[in-house]
Amino acid sequence: MANLQKGADPASNRGWFITVEGPEGAGKTTMITGVAEALQAEGYRVMVTREPGGIEIAEQIRGIILNPANTAMDARTEALLYAAARRQHLSEKVVPALQQGIIVICDRFIDSSLAYQGFARGLGIDEVWGINRFATEDVMPDVTFYLDIEPEIGLARIQASKQREVNRLDLEKLDFHKRVREGYHKLLARFPERITVIDAEQPPEQMIRQVYESLKQQLNVN
Ligand code: TYD
Repeated sequence: MANLQKGADPASNRGWFITVEGPEGAGKTTMITGVAEALQAEGYRVMVTREPGGIEIAEQIRGIILNPANTAMDARTEALLYAAARRQHLSEKVVPALQQGIIVICDRFIDSSLAYQGFARGLGIDEVWGINRFATEDVMPDVTFYLDIEPEIGLARIQASKQREVNRLDLEKLDFHKRVREGYHKLLARFPERITVIDAEQPPEQMIRQVYESLKQQLNVN
């Protein structure tokens, strides 16, 4: 995989790698769709993708991880499967697009593993960071938007929506989702320059505008 660490080749025209994080029900999909459409309308080339999945092999791994029948799954197995799906998706889809100068917006990336497996499951943020460094060869997002919302509100939104499948992680207790949020808050303190917090309790249109404006500002500066 080409060296795509930020600043590795200042002369390259590589696209921006943008990731979106947050708990279930925060409105990531709506926000991503709105922002991608706005950027495309201005002539930017944008690719939207998601984790775990985004390509055939990673979708197959996703099927194993999220299958509600797999209650016996060990936490380290789960973390390794997410990292494996991430690796395949990154090398097969994300990196080639970035190399073509395309803006990639990815629904979830490494911070999900750090918050869910590292913190909420208790494996340790640094331990999970270690296996992910192996998987990503240190390719990190240029910008990350974290959609912050009370877990109770996010879960209520999922339950109200009939379009969304219920997966194994949704079935975790409220306490788990509270720990996920705490994990994300630890990441905000650790990566303050990369991660921007967005209030996900505001109306979707407002959230889209806020992210779009923040991105436009950053795209124009760099
Ligand atoms: P998904 O249906 O994509 O949920 P959402 O709409 O909330 O993004 O399911 C992904 C689930 O996997 C979600 O519960 C978060 C979890 N997850 C992790 O625990 N670790 C990870 O590294 C990733 C990418 C996702």
